Amino acid sequence: MADRMRCAVLIGNSDGIGLAFTRRLLADGWRVAGLSRRDSGINVPTYTHHTVDVTAPDYPEVLSKAIDELGRIDLCVYAAGIGEPVDLADLDAQARTFEVNLMGAVRTVTTVVPHMVAVGDGHIIGLSSLADRLVSAEAPGYAGSKAGLSSYLMGLSAALRGQGVSVTTVRFGFVDTKMAKGPVRPLMIPVDRAVEILARCVRNRPVSISRPRRMALLTSALAPFIRPR
Ligand SMILES: NC(=O)c1ccc[n+]([C@@H]2O[C@H](COP(=O)([O-])OP(=O)(O)OC[C@H]3O[C@@H](n4cnc5c(N)ncnc54)[C@H](OP(=O)(O)O)[C@@H]3O)[C@@H](O)[C@H]2O)c1
Repeated sequence: MADRMRCAVLIGNSDGIGLAFTRRLLADGWRVAGLSRRDSGINVPTYTHHTVDVTAPDYPEVLSKAIDELGRIDLCVYAAGIGEPVDLADLDAQARTFEVNLMGAVRTVTTVVPHMVAVGDGHIIGLSSLADRLVSAEAPGYAGSKAGLSSYLMGLSAALRGQGVSVTTVRFGFVDTKMAKGPVRPLMIPVDRAVEILARCVRNRPVSISRPRRMALLTSALAPFIRPR
């Protein structure tokens, strides 16, 4: 009997890592539903796009509809994210960072987990960051939202053990997309490399992965010394 087609939902896939990984999954024979505010520009029969903002009240409804249309969900990748330098006259922008990076992911797993638990199988991958260990005066909302995201996903991974559902927290350093726009981007990896790392996560379902390794070591070693006093 032929293997059935595996089904994935990609959130935040009109650009960057999410878009590149959507293309990879489609090339590997997956059926994919993508969700983001803009279209992904992908036009193949195995792909459907849903235009939605993860902070909108109807986001869970749109996500549920996407899952229903697929028929099942084997993989959910949360790649939506924003990061702005702090402007003290506009702390709403920092609040919005939490809404997208953290609460969008929280609302996603709230919708997705019951589907996966019901069939005793599934995999959630969340794109966090090596910034989750940092206390940042430059982008406090980004570092804070990623700290919350990593902690929540790693906790969920343990809570879901025994249910057949895996949760992977991916902690990247700099990846060459429009998000990595600062002047200093040490040990930055190309998007293709990030896609390879995600493809390996799909195969092996680790609890967490931090790449590049040297950047992860550097961040851990330096984090205690770069806290504002
Ligand atoms: N690039 C890096 O250096 C780096 C490093 C570590 C971690 N990460 C993480 O990796 C993830 C992907 O980053 P990237 O570099 O690929 O960024 P990117 O190129 O800026 O792409 C971000 C994606 O998120 C979507 N998005 C943003 N706000 C959204 C919203 N309110 N509702 C729905 N979708 C939204 C965007 O789509 P729309 O604008 O169409 O909505 C876009 O598709 C992020 O979580 C980021 O924090 C990136």
